[in-house]
Amino acid sequence: MRSCCFASILGIGLSMAAQAGEDIKVGVVLPYSGVYASLGADITDGMQLALDLYGSEIAGRKIVLITEDSEVKPNVGLTKTKKLVFQDKVDLLVGPVASNVAGAMRDFVHNAKMPLIIPNAGNNLLTGEKCSPWVIRTSFSNDQINRVMGPWLYEQGHRTLYLMAPDYAAGHQMMAAVRRGFTEAGGEVLGEEYPPLRETKDFAPYLAKVKAIRPDALYVFFAGGLAIQFVKQYHEFGLKAEIPLTGAGWLTSPLFLPAQGSAAAGFIGALNYVPTIDSDENREFQFAFNEKYKRIASEFTVQGFDTGRLIVEALKITGGETADKAAFVRAIHAVEFTGPRGPFRIDPLTNNVIQDIYIFETRQGGYNIRHVVIDKIADVQDPPNGCVM
Ligand code: PHB
Repeated sequence: MRSCCFASILGIGLSMAAQAGEDIKVGVVLPYSGVYASLGADITDGMQLALDLYGSEIAGRKIVLITEDSEVKPNVGLTKTKKLVFQDKVDLLVGPVASNVAGAMRDFVHNAKMPLIIPNAGNNLLTGEKCSPWVIRTSFSNDQINRVMGPWLYEQGHRTLYLMAPDYAAGHQMMAAVRRGFTEAGGEVLGEEYPPLRETKDFAPYLAKVKAIRPDALYVFFAGGLAIQFVKQYHEFGLKAEIPLTGAGWLTSPLFLPAQGSAAAGFIGALNYVPTIDSDENREFQFAFNEKYKRIASEFTVQGFDTGRLIVEALKITGGETADKAAFVRAIHAVEFTGPRGPFRIDPLTNNVIQDIYIFETRQGGYNIRHVVIDKIADVQDPPNGCVM
């Protein structure tokens, strides 16, 4: 017994000594091609800015990002994850953007006991029924963003909704969240459409149905190239004047607004961040991002930024050690800060972020189009949803 424990203590000591001076490798699995490519770029830039500002070297160890393209494909995401773990021997992982890719990666990282920090993918299961001590989410769950909108829309006087989202886990989970809140409040969902995630370029057949059915409002989730196409076609179809457009707030992200232009005006959405949040933390962040990247930071940038900051702060607590993964996760739970989106902390019960959710309108003022916050729900925390750590 004695020799076993002494040997294992020695073993840990040796592995820590071996780590000193070595790079801390962060394996990053994000889409750099495909429908969510621009999201992956924004998250990466946000993470890099956090390393610039909060420290890219801890206890003599440099933090380096090793990036891999998930292509928004579950099998590719999993293969790249394995490559980062087995070949590059990363210390921790960050990714992905899409819920279906996250679903494919979950069992591998759980069994490998490899910390995975999710900077976007909202798949409810990963911080619910399929939660893991090794999977931490800094972004949102699909339920967290959307469930507040059902009762809110009902309170605004809407009594019927039509739902539309891409046909994959995130689309279905988000629509289920808004449907639940809206019908519990007394509203009725008149219909729903789930166009394919990758292929959809033409929304006309779906929009024709909405026009015929005439709901009080249309509630959607689209992001990336789909968001740009959808908003333009909604406008061209003449629906904007007839049926209010609402939904998950990514639809008019600052990432997509330049391509959407005035067609985006009038949209009402819910999200964990908009660039117009009135706080010193947010103004300083937007200023620093603009200095370096010459563009407005999006909610994806903020998720990358807060992920980078969380990693740095946790590593400061562990003294730059990454060999003891459980100690690293404990350090993550000890980090709290107020960032660009407001107060930020990880819920140790689910490993999902606790954060404010903003309801905003995308408004046109002269040549400018901007997000105007009209309501805020503070400290939104997911129930455990079947999570047992
Ligand atoms: C997701 O697949 O979980 C997802 C993708 C893009 C978003 C939000 C959620 O903007």
